[in-house]
Parts: sequence; structure tokens; C-alpha cells
Amino acid sequence: MGTPITNPLRVGLRQERVVAPQCLVIFGASGDLTGRKLLPALFELFNQRRLPSEFAVLGCARRPWSDDEFRQRMADCLSEQIKEEPIAWEKFSSNLFYESVDLSQPNKLIKLKERLDSIDRLQATHSNRTFYLSVSPKFYGSGCRALSNAGLLNDPRRSRVVIEKPFGRDFVSAQALNELVQSCGQESQIFRIDHYLGKETVQNILVMRFANSIFEPIWNRNFISSVQITAAETVGVEERAGYYESSGAIRDMVQNHLTQMLALTAMEPPGHFDPEAIRNEKAKVLQAARLADEIEPWNCCIRGQYEKGGTKSSPLVGYRDEPGVHPNSTTETYVAMKLFIDNWRWQGVPFYVRTGKRLAKRVSEVVLTFREAPVHLFDAAGGSPTSNQLVLRIQPNEGAEFRFDVKSPGSGMRSRPVEMEFSYDQSFGEPSDEGYVRLLADAMLGDPTLFTRSDEVEAAWRLYTPLLELIEDSPWQLPIHLYESRTWGPAAADSLLAQDELIWRRP
Ligand code: BG6
Repeated sequence: MGTPITNPLRVGLRQERVVAPQCLVIFGASGDLTGRKLLPALFELFNQRRLPSEFAVLGCARRPWSDDEFRQRMADCLSEQIKEEPIAWEKFSSNLFYESVDLSQPNKLIKLKERLDSIDRLQATHSNRTFYLSVSPKFYGSGCRALSNAGLLNDPRRSRVVIEKPFGRDFVSAQALNELVQSCGQESQIFRIDHYLGKETVQNILVMRFANSIFEPIWNRNFISSVQITAAETVGVEERAGYYESSGAIRDMVQNHLTQMLALTAMEPPGHFDPEAIRNEKAKVLQAARLADEIEPWNCCIRGQYEKGGTKSSPLVGYRDEPGVHPNSTTETYVAMKLFIDNWRWQGVPFYVRTGKRLAKRVSEVVLTFREAPVHLFDAAGGSPTSNQLVLRIQPNEGAEFRFDVKSPGSGMRSRPVEMEFSYDQSFGEPSDEGYVRLLADAMLGDPTLFTRSDEVEAAWRLYTPLLELIEDSPWQLPIHLYESRTWGPAAADSLLAQDELIWRRP
């Protein structure tokens, strides 16, 4: 046997590392994610020479494809990239294999084991295996159980499982799923994906905070008056009504992506830069978070749903007219809420979180607003004084900006806000990798830093489960506010901030 995947040295966020010999097994290989995200990310890693020559991808799904058919289908999905790197694709695709596997028939996994053993001999992959569950969430638990029963998770140094979102539907189901997957292997073998953590700019929240000495002393309730976290999309539900109807924006975006951004923004500095130290701090801050009004949540949460909109030449249909959506659906495509974090750093500082589909602009950002100067010595050119603001631009136009007042030119002493800006594009000139490139490499390297641990997932679900239960039991208490497509969401979401004499930032 060759080198196990797990690097015994402490692993933190670091320079590019080459993946150890191994086989990546993708369950759900005929699905959308494999062709759209996973294979392009693997091909990118191959082109960056971060995959070893002893490497294989084994696609698994129910369809009875051959290796060649799988290669051809993946080539169709990656046609644009292949045009640029045809020779590299020739080499890369010779490492792709396919096995027809039905995860709901665990007794058939014996055949999978034999195939993996033969790939080990062929590709020298040393029994190092990463199993990627890109399947329906109802198979996450049973899939892990089947792998464990087949003895495929026996060696924690050589085998791990990557699990896509959603990990559970609420606190109780996430807890049950954690118990189940942890009974199949060690927590160190479980990699729960949140693709936002693969984004360079989300990781940059940590670097901005902890690599600079100027931010940390003011990163607290004494200096920051409020925080806004936004993930706005222009797209609608697209072809995913089947999933989205039973999910909605809280489960689809808030419990995972927005909550991860909140955790990185609000966590304490870790003692060391290693995976567990970071995840400990994220879990701790999420355990201290709560809805601003736990007794009457309708005071701190607004749900919305998009109606038709767009222009005469390109009209957009409303959510209820999308294919697969119930005509009276009350699924939210927009949500805004207010949270508090009850700890020494953040007590009393509101965190406003919002996300929605079919909004005016595609933009994700974290905005920290600082307290106003205690005395206003100067007249403000715009009428009222502004507060300093730090905006961490997650996407697009990745970077950050800081708003501060300067003297407005001319006679007199009027103040006026200006922006100081950092842009990834201008400073580094090259586009950053897709999140899946980073996350796939890290999972295969056994580095869990950018994956969510069981306690983090549970803490995030615990935070929103009262809302989800209320929506299920008494939906009229959290009614749906309709909003026109390509606007900034329902007016009611503005009142959420107006109560605190604030307004949403219009990026
Ligand atoms: C996914 C959600 O997790 O994230 C989608 O299921 C959403 O509904 C997507 O569109 C947004 O990701 P990104 O990277 O485009 O902001």
C-alpha cells in the first residue's frame, strides 16, 4: 500500500498542494452537478498539475453506460474547455471510468468494491478513495451506510465521503443524519460541502480580519453598529421547481451560505490557523446567534415571492407560473431577517440577512456599518452625515471597499463620503478558481477547513428551525409578500430596517 491521503502535519489554508494518488468516486455521475461543476473543476485541477498521474474518477449512476459513453458525455459537457485544451483532455479523460451502481441496492456494492480494486491495480491509486455523494439527499444516510457495510470506509486515513447540501431539512433531521453518517465513519471522514466556502472572497473574510492589525480592535459592538449580509440573484427558480418548492429561500440559501458568511464575519480569532480551531470558533458563534425576536418571529423575518416583471421585450413569469410550481405556492423566494449574537463582541448589534431570486442585481456582500462620529463638526454635503462602511464584495466584482468622509472641495468645510477600493481583478489580474476547484482539491487532500462540521450544521439549523416550524404550522403568521421580478424585493423588507432607522444598502 502507498501513501495514505491524510497529511499528518497540521493543515491550514495554504499554497497549492498536489493531491495524493487516489480514486474519486462520484455517485450521481449522470446528474447535472457532475457535468456542470465537478468534471470542469477536476479538469482545471488536472491542467494546473494538481492531480497526480495515479488518479482516477469513477462515475457511478444507475444508467448502464460504458467507460467510453461516460467519457463522451463528459466531453459534451466540457466542450468549451476542451476546445482550448484538446490534448490535455485526451490525457485526462483516459482516467475516467464508469460503473453502473444503484445506491438503493446496497448488496450490489460488492461489485463496486471489485471495480475499485481493479482501478487500484490499473491506476496505482493505493486504495485511497473519496466518495462524492451527488445524489438525492434521501440517499445521503443510506449511501454512507451502504459504503460502510461494504467495508469501503474502514480506513479513515484512506477513505472519505463528500456530502452535498442540503444536509437535513431542520434541526432534528440534521441531527439524525449526523448520527447516521457518524455511525458509518469518523467525523474526520465526512466532508459537508457548502460551495460558498470555496469562494476566494468568502475565505478572504478571514484574511481581511486576521491578517491586518487595524480591523480586529474595531471589529465589535463598540465600533460597529450593524451588519448586512446579502446574496441577491437575478435568476428565478429555473428548472429546479421540484426541489425548490419543498425548500424555499431559508433552506436553500440562508441556513447554509448566508450563515457561513455570518459565522466568518462574526467568529472570534482562532488560536491557531488549523481546521478544528477555525471550525470551533464558527460553531461557537453560531451557538450564540438567535432570531432578533424569538417570541414573535414575524417581527424579525419577512418572506417574499417573485411575481412577473421584466420588460416588454423580455418578460419574466412570476414564481407561481414557473413550470412545476403549484399555482398557489407559498414557498418563499425571498427572505430578510434580523438576528442577534449574544456574546461579548456582538451583543446588541443587529445582523440583517437577506437573499432572493429575481432581484434587481446579482450581488453577494457583507457590509459592516460603523458607529457615527460622536459629534458632527461639519455639514454633510449630501444633507445628512454618513457612517463609515466596510463592504466585503463576495461576487461579482470581487474585492472590498471602505467608505469614509473627506472634505468636499471648495470654500467651507463640508464633508462628503468617498470610497477606497480593492478589486481582486485589478490587483491580481487573473480570475479566481471556481469554488468547486478548491473544495474538491481540499476534500481529496483531506483538509476539512472549508467544510462544515456536524456541530456547525446543527447550530445553523437550530437557529432557523423555529421559523421553519412556524411557516409549516401557522403560515399566515409569516405571510408571503409578493414582489415584482427584477426589483429589490418586497417593501415589507424595508420596514424591517426602518424600525431601526436604517435602510438596506443598494449595491
Ligand atoms: C445554491 C442554491 O446552493 O446556490 C441555488 O441551491 C443558488 O438556488 C446558488 O442559485 C447560488 O450560488 P452562487 O454561487 O451562484 O451565488
